[in-house]
Amino acid sequence: MPKTEGTQTGETVEELKLAAVAALDSADSNDQLEAWRVDFMGRKGRLTGLLRGLGSLEIDERKVVGAAANRLRGELESLFEERVNQSKSSQAPVGSIDITLPGRKPSHGGLHPSTQMIREITQAFNEMGFQTIEGPEVELEKYNFDMLNIPADHPARDQWDTIWVDDDTHNDVLLRTHTSPMQARTMETNDPPIRVIVPGKCYRYESTDATHEWHFNQVEGLAVDEGITFADLKGTLYEFARRIFGPSMKVRFRCDFFPFVEPGVDMSIEWQGNWLEIMGAGMVHPKVLENAGYDSTKYTGFAFGMGPERISMLRNEITDIRHFFSNDLRFLTQF
Ligand code: PHE
Repeated sequence: MPKTEGTQTGETVEELKLAAVAALDSADSNDQLEAWRVDFMGRKGRLTGLLRGLGSLEIDERKVVGAAANRLRGELESLFEERVNQSKSSQAPVGSIDITLPGRKPSHGGLHPSTQMIREITQAFNEMGFQTIEGPEVELEKYNFDMLNIPADHPARDQWDTIWVDDDTHNDVLLRTHTSPMQARTMETNDPPIRVIVPGKCYRYESTDATHEWHFNQVEGLAVDEGITFADLKGTLYEFARRIFGPSMKVRFRCDFFPFVEPGVDMSIEWQGNWLEIMGAGMVHPKVLENAGYDSTKYTGFAFGMGPERISMLRNEITDIRHFFSNDLRFLTQF
């Protein structure tokens, strides 16, 4: 064990080390760290004092103590650096609240653009006496097709390429391809008069593109009563178009085919010089009335179905339906 005392300050290398390490440990502010640096490592500090005192030592002893003192300098320098870094990171710990930062506006959510459109559409019909109801998204083949005059071998089933929910006990369960099954369900459990509006999600086994999604919303409407005519259908849908698109909106009805209506039409609006189809509609087919147990010689009705995303696309100049379901805030926050 080399003798290391006998320096100018009277402090041995070991003593200096113990004192320096203890003092560094208890320094817990930037000021205290700086005071430590001056005290131990500064030009007039204790380590410098110790080194200065080497001159008074015997040559052999000077070599040994000098080497130990230089080692200590290296050690203390790296310990000091470590403590400085520690104190920097502890002043702004990750995830803590920095109360010195200026306040930020909290971001709060809003209604999805589809929901907003659905509410606007249903409200327009509510004001015309229609009641909003909802139905199951997982539906029986019976309601989605059979009761709507679309039998298993009917080519019209091709229009609704279907996602089937198969299990061991059922092969007649599917994700509804339209909201029209709620026509059948409503008539099955209610007597006329009926005026309902049915928003909800639908699913089709389809590849997606700018105008097609495999999942989308529809809003179905049904009115059944004594003496309802095609003029009621036209008047109601005309009024709807004016409420959604403005009072000067022009509409056009053309013949179209849906197995559950007769006659069937599609309704278009004149949009920036073009006729654009916005919904299918028609007088409820007598077979559909009878399937639900209604007397088709006594009651008549009209039904219609539209895609709220498509209507929102027209009104808001959205060019791709896939934006609605891609969860991109750059799109969603524009509504
Ligand atoms: N269900 C039809 C569709 O999905 C729309 C429709 C509803 C047509 C009601 C006529 C009457 O395309």
